[in-house]
Order: sequence, then C-alpha cells, then structure tokens
Amino acid sequence: MPDVIGLLAVWSIVISGGFLLLGVGLIRRGNVRWHHRAMLTATVFAALFLVFYLAKWALIGTTRYAGPEAWRAAYYFVLFTHTLLAAVNGPLALVVLYNAFKGRFDRHKAWARWTVPIWLYVALSGWIIYVVLRLYGEKADGIAF
Ligand code: HEM
Repeated sequence: MPDVIGLLAVWSIVISGGFLLLGVGLIRRGNVRWHHRAMLTATVFAALFLVFYLAKWALIGTTRYAGPEAWRAAYYFVLFTHTLLAAVNGPLALVVLYNAFKGRFDRHKAWARWTVPIWLYVALSGWIIYVVLRLYGEKADGIAF
C-alpha cells in the first residue's frame, strides 16, 4: 500500500511535468486551444500529486534518509528546495491560470516564465527523492519501505 501511494504521487508529478512541457511547446507553435488543454491537464495532475502526497504523509508518515553520509547534505538540499518550491508553485499556478482566464496574456506570460521552471524543478526533484528513498529510505520506526 505505501508503495502504491508513493508511486501514484511520483507518477502524478512526473506526468504533470510532461504536460507542462507539452503545453509550452504548443504555445510556441501558436496552438492556444491545445496549450490551454495541456496546461489544465498539468494542473489536474499537480493537484493529484498533492492529494497522494498528503495521503501518504497522513497514512504512512515520513521516510528517513539512511543512505551514505557523503550524500546526506545534497539529499536534504533537494528535499528542502522541493518542498519549499512545491508550496510556492500552487499559488503561482493559480495566478498564471487566473490571468489566462481573464485574458491578461502579458501578465500571464510574465508569471508563467517563473512558474514553469519552478514546476519542472518540483517534478524532477520529486522523482529524484522517490528514487533515493526507495534505495536508502527507512521509516522512523525502523521499517524500511
Ligand atoms: C498553469 C497553467 C499555464 C501555464 C504554466 C502556462 C504557461 C505559458 C507560458 C510559459 C507561455 C509563454 C510561452 C512563450 O512565450 O515562450 C504562455 C503563453 C500563453 N498562454 Fe499559457 N499557461 C497556462 C495556462 C493557460 C490557459 C488556461 C490559457 C487559455 C485560456 C493560456 C493561454 C495562453 C496564451 C494565449 C499565451 C500566448 C500569449 C501571448 O503570446 O501573448 N495559458 N503560457
């Protein structure tokens, strides 16, 4: 069960990142209709990520890093920036969407230029954290998962 929720969370954020890249590619070709659809899909998957992530946290708790000492600082740097930027990404995405739906495309683009790299970082680092914890994670009570 923990494996399934963790896997659902990580795939949600990876799929979200994929639709984000697709959406950027579509708007660069001037395809507003499919840009719109791809970005809404990316937003839905990012929201799903949040749901699965919180479910995992509530049902299973956190996983501790128990890997090589030499990597500990790098792992916690990635974990910290991932968590911080995931929290920032939510409101940023809403601002980007709000401006798009209001037809304020200059503001939409200006906010999107910050939001897209942050979103991609969250997706990529989420995947890295998942892989590291699969290899070197252990639960606080000592049960590895
Ligand atoms: C969170 C979701 C979204 C993100 C992250 C996003 C991202 C972006 C980015 C990065 C650009 C600039 C591309 C470039 O110039 O290189 C852009 C442009 C644009 N987006 Fe979005 N977008 C989102 C949702 C939407 C939605 C829902 C619509 C439609 C209602 C939309 C309509 C447009 C339009 C029309 C442009 C072109 C604006 C112009 O060139 O003047 N976007 N978007």
